Amino acid sequence: MDKKIILITGASNGIGKVTALELAKENYQLIIHGRNYERTKAVYDEIVALGNSDVSMITADFSLLSEVAKFADKVKSQVDHLDVLYNNAGGQFGEEREVTAEGHEKTFAINMLAPFLLTQLLLPLLQKSDAAQIVTQSSESYQHAEPKLNDIELESHYNFSDAYGLSKLYVWWLMREFDKRLTEKNISNVTVNTVEPGTALSTGLQRISGKIPEMKKLMDEYQQYSWSISDAAATGLYVITSPEVAGVSGKFYGNKKEKNISPKWYSESGQKQIWDYCVEACKQYL
Ligand SMILES: NC(=O)c1ccc[n+]([C@@H]2O[C@H](COP(=O)([O-])OP(=O)(O)OC[C@H]3O[C@@H](n4cnc5c(N)ncnc54)[C@H](OP(=O)(O)O)[C@@H]3O)[C@@H](O)[C@H]2O)c1
Repeated sequence: MDKKIILITGASNGIGKVTALELAKENYQLIIHGRNYERTKAVYDEIVALGNSDVSMITADFSLLSEVAKFADKVKSQVDHLDVLYNNAGGQFGEEREVTAEGHEKTFAINMLAPFLLTQLLLPLLQKSDAAQIVTQSSESYQHAEPKLNDIELESHYNFSDAYGLSKLYVWWLMREFDKRLTEKNISNVTVNTVEPGTALSTGLQRISGKIPEMKKLMDEYQQYSWSISDAAATGLYVITSPEVAGVSGKFYGNKKEKNISPKWYSESGQKQIWDYCVEACKQYL
């Protein structure tokens, strides 16, 4: 049987890195993505040192849609199909609202627009697999903010916590919508699931937000409950590799189990609105 080809975004650090190293040991073919060349190359070298030379690396700054589109082209030039797209890259930012050179709020751009556009652009490659999976990293923070559908990029309501929490809520909605649309088109060889990793405070996620005094205090208090990065990587690994999840689509997993999310955390109309917003924001590349 051919090796499964797995693309992991944000594999240069934290959960993505641990995931890549674990999958490398299982002898999958990997494409690892990172923003920073040196950090990504260091993970690439670790994978090769494990004895798996079936790995390539591509760097791209996912805060920019133009970079996501170029990244997708590079993936397409390397492989003729893709078995797993793991949308793991993500970021959390500071007290001041930052806007990318393309005019999007930074958290929204990296955590929402990038996985939306990448998934759209790589769907044709995924459809060429016998059984493909789209797995996207959300967070328990999805329940930490009320949706603000009249201010999706938080121009008037920004704070770092809401920006992060809402990006993780909306990305789950996007994945529900991908699942719905694939089902409507009778595309049964591509599944779409969302995962959340628990809390691992030793990754790089709080590099910027952790300097905010209220966040620093919270992190200090929560330190004793923090998971290891390996434990945080476990749910994504479970969904990617477990036969129990083969063919299952449209679910949300945490702690290696399907999670029942209260219907109060989504609305069909909100989901459609977020989808349409992303289509409009990405239309130049679709
Ligand atoms: N750790 C947790 O407790 C936790 C909880 C819930 C959800 N999550 C989610 O899990 C995922 C992985 O996070 P982590 O905790 O492992 O954090 P991390 O150590 O900071 O890793 C994040 C990865 O995403 C990459 N990334 C960040 N911004 C990027 C950009 N603009 N362009 C391209 N790549 C970018 C990072 O690249 P660099 O190496 O260049 O920074 C890194 O490879 C994220 O989606 C996060 O939201 C984490």
